[in-house]
Amino acid sequence: MTGSDGTSNAAWRGRSLATAVPCYGDERLAMVRGQGCRLWDADGKEYLDLLAGIAVCCLGHAHPVIRDALAKQADLLVHCSNKFVVPAQVELAEWLSARSFAERVFFTNSGTEAIEAALKLSRRVAHVRGEHERFEIISFEGSFHGRTYGAVSATAQAKYHRGFEPLLPGIVYLPFADASALDKALGHKTAAVVLEPIQGEGGVRPFPADFLKLVHRLCSERGALLICDEIQCGMGRTGKLFHHQHHDITPDIVTVAKALGGGVPIGAMLTTAEWGDHLTNGVHGTTYGGNPLMCATALAVCQYIEREGLIAHVAEVGEYFRDRLQALCDKYEKAVEVRGAGLMIGLGLKEGATELTRYLLTNGMIVNAIGDTTIRIVPPLIINKEEVDKATNQIEKWLKT
Ligand SMILES: Cc1ncc(COP(=O)(O)O)c(C=O)c1O
Repeated sequence: MTGSDGTSNAAWRGRSLATAVPCYGDERLAMVRGQGCRLWDADGKEYLDLLAGIAVCCLGHAHPVIRDALAKQADLLVHCSNKFVVPAQVELAEWLSARSFAERVFFTNSGTEAIEAALKLSRRVAHVRGEHERFEIISFEGSFHGRTYGAVSATAQAKYHRGFEPLLPGIVYLPFADASALDKALGHKTAAVVLEPIQGEGGVRPFPADFLKLVHRLCSERGALLICDEIQCGMGRTGKLFHHQHHDITPDIVTVAKALGGGVPIGAMLTTAEWGDHLTNGVHGTTYGGNPLMCATALAVCQYIEREGLIAHVAEVGEYFRDRLQALCDKYEKAVEVRGAGLMIGLGLKEGATELTRYLLTNGMIVNAIGDTTIRIVPPLIINKEEVDKATNQIEKWLKT
């Protein structure tokens, strides 16, 4: 079978295998078109997309708001360098800071670069204070913060390190949510603690609310910065604009990316004036980060999320989705638990996550397996209850087998 452009999945896969570094595996389909929560591959097969480019395409696919913003800004100015003020960047920074603790924003092209900025800022703050011993970064087992050297070093999972050593020095890895290990490790050498309030790649694993409060308190008492990595759980995905807003804590730094641009590559590091102003002229920077095209698009996405009340929609549909999955856990032994918040959902299985992912793909549905015991569901934030029913009915068919 061939797609509308006359080229099949198999043909694209062959050409990809012949040209690309194989770091994304060799079984991939070629996706050629999307609309709302649906995707079509090169063979013309339709899928319900419950992954959204891994928590990125918050408005689904081919959304007119994104198309129009890109077209409008492309007509005006695509790029001009941060040597000049970028008005769309100013407006996006104002939008984000009006809705958060942030007084300063640094824009990047990706999540991992936002983490790099956060790590560098933490060490820079200690340096400027004259605390030259304060350079350690504490991170928790199961975390994922990105693939560049600083971010991968801060990622407490050995599988991402193998073959890339030596890593960035000064990273301290602690067991997940271990209060006494944290109490022992966090001291005069700690520049920052970095954590994802809900670990994404670590299996959609939320930190307990009490633990988040403890980290926040110990960081402020002992002079370390708290970095909340909200690259996956932020921008409305869990039913608040930023996930930490569920927990009544104020981090020193928050990193976002993914859903911020709805599909265009943009990330940001949000912080206070007290910390952010330490990144003085020339101390840090990026060529593309915060460029006019990305910022204008991200601003249009953010404004749409607010205008359409999408975050309340996430809270409602997310609860509906998790309730439906919980009912499956109550009914079938193979399904163990539902984790997460809003539309960041992990379905814990006894085993068979890879098999279920394959089964769903064959039946026109995209999720992703984390290990063999978790299915990650991070659909577009616009998903409706009908689509949720379709998804849970299909998952139930597999659980029945
Ligand atoms: C929590 C978290 N931090 C950082 C990153 C890295 O972001 P990027 O892939 O945009 O560099 C990811 C990506 O999956 C992530 O989920």
